[in-house]
Amino acid sequence: MFDYDSELARYHERLLEALDIRPGDRVLDIGCGTGLTTRDAARAASPGSALGIDVSGPMLARARRQAETEGLRNVDFVQGDAQAHPFPAEYFSLGVSRFGTMFFSDPVVAFANIGRSLRPGARFVQLVWQAADQQEWHTAIRAALAGEHASSASATAADDPFTLADPDVVAEALTSADFAAVDVVDVREPVRYGPDADHARAAVLQLRMAREWLADLDAGSAERALDRLSATLDAHDTGDGVWFDSRAWLVSAHRR
Ligand SMILES: C[S@@+](CC[C@H](N)C(=O)[O-])C[C@H]1O[C@@H](n2cnc3c(N)ncnc32)[C@H](O)[C@@H]1O
Repeated sequence: MFDYDSELARYHERLLEALDIRPGDRVLDIGCGTGLTTRDAARAASPGSALGIDVSGPMLARARRQAETEGLRNVDFVQGDAQAHPFPAEYFSLGVSRFGTMFFSDPVVAFANIGRSLRPGARFVQLVWQAADQQEWHTAIRAALAGEHASSASATAADDPFTLADPDVVAEALTSADFAAVDVVDVREPVRYGPDADHARAAVLQLRMAREWLADLDAGSAERALDRLSATLDAHDTGDGVWFDSRAWLVSAHRR
């Protein structure tokens, strides 16, 4: 399972700072994955609570195990599609997502569904990726793995993580879904793929887009692509982890 907590550690701090969770808050975490954001929100919101939703059973299983290990009683996780899940109406005082909102088939429908679960005036704060060509992690890994076919390889893959990269598109979707005061802030933090190049290679090969680029290659080309990947990761190994630059949007809006 890909370790988003390690990759996104710098962004996590920025997100928590922006969330400014208050005791008593009821927090909804969209696309919570293994649930670090949900658990941290629950801690900050106590005696309030946090609910994480994700489509992935295995990720939620890990989230629940970790919450139990940490003795958290005010956190819950539910498996479902946040675009359609029947959340309680006007229940949550804060919505959050750490890179979990880019995969909806219809963002307006999804944001409207999330909005209905928020109290009037409640904030919804998301981190989403800026465009693919602004991401060193994406361009470097793609150049290595798509290599000889980079010009014809799709810039992205299935489960495109860049669907909300255009701030106008995000603002329009949120406004159409009855959110107001949309604010989009440019956030630039490096992402970490592991403590060294070997761990980083294993991590990268868990990414669906990396596997799809490799699957397009014949055996010889795939071998050369993996050699290029190792060289790229070696070049980004700082001795304190393998790091790439990245850019995200911190998007905040209020439910009307
Ligand atoms: C990039 S991961 C981020 C996970 C987590 N927020 C984190 O930062 O560690 C995106 C997550 O969104 C989830 N996801 C994708 N589409 C979803 C949907 N329609 N409803 C709920 N979760 C979804 C995925 O299963 C995945 O766990």
